[in-house]
Amino acid sequence: MLKILFATTNPGKIRELQEVFSGMSVEILSIKDFNNHLPHKFEAIESGKTFIDNAEIKSKTYGEKLNILTVADDSGLEVKALDGRPGVFSKRYGNSDEERNRRLLNELQEVPKSNRTARFVCALSLYDPNNRKCHTVEGIMQGKISYSIQGAQGFGYDPIFINETGKTNAEISLQKKNQISHRGKAFRKLKIYIQKNYKI
Ligand code: IMP
Repeated sequence: MLKILFATTNPGKIRELQEVFSGMSVEILSIKDFNNHLPHKFEAIESGKTFIDNAEIKSKTYGEKLNILTVADDSGLEVKALDGRPGVFSKRYGNSDEERNRRLLNELQEVPKSNRTARFVCALSLYDPNNRKCHTVEGIMQGKISYSIQGAQGFGYDPIFINETGKTNAEISLQKKNQISHRGKAFRKLKIYIQKNYKI
């Protein structure tokens, strides 16, 4: 059984990765499984300028400390009319999802539909302590920013992100979102790499 640590405390993300590897000889562990082996308040400092930098900082920090094959992700929203903002600051763009969404809608108030292009990006990094290398993949979901908050599912910027179905991410099922999302695409790319390189 191949053991992989997913360096996150988000149970939703753990479930998604477990689902990707279901029926295979892979066990996905979370940071909570290693609480006794980590110093108090141990964390990776996400100081990178890109999603890839931050995902690699996280996978290396935990993989080296715990000497285990480690996956870490970093994701966020890039809005073209705002020169790519909020980008790596997606989490810190306001104090709540509601505040972050309202801020973006305000900033885009005068922007016409044709110029409201945006994309979600997910960088997913796998660190192997045996060769001390990272293998990192990216998944992208293209869309547009809506004019109002629509839908109640999902999280984060989902209610203002119109995807390829013409609905916001908050108006579609989780299964559908996983099929077309940045994270779903990145998870599937990493699965192919792991299947090839770790003979599972
Ligand atoms: P993290 O990758 O969990 O650190 O997420 C960064 C931030 O990007 C989150 O707090 C959300 O605001 C945003 N984000 C990332 N993925 C999604 C998504 O699938 N839907 C909505 N917001 C997302």
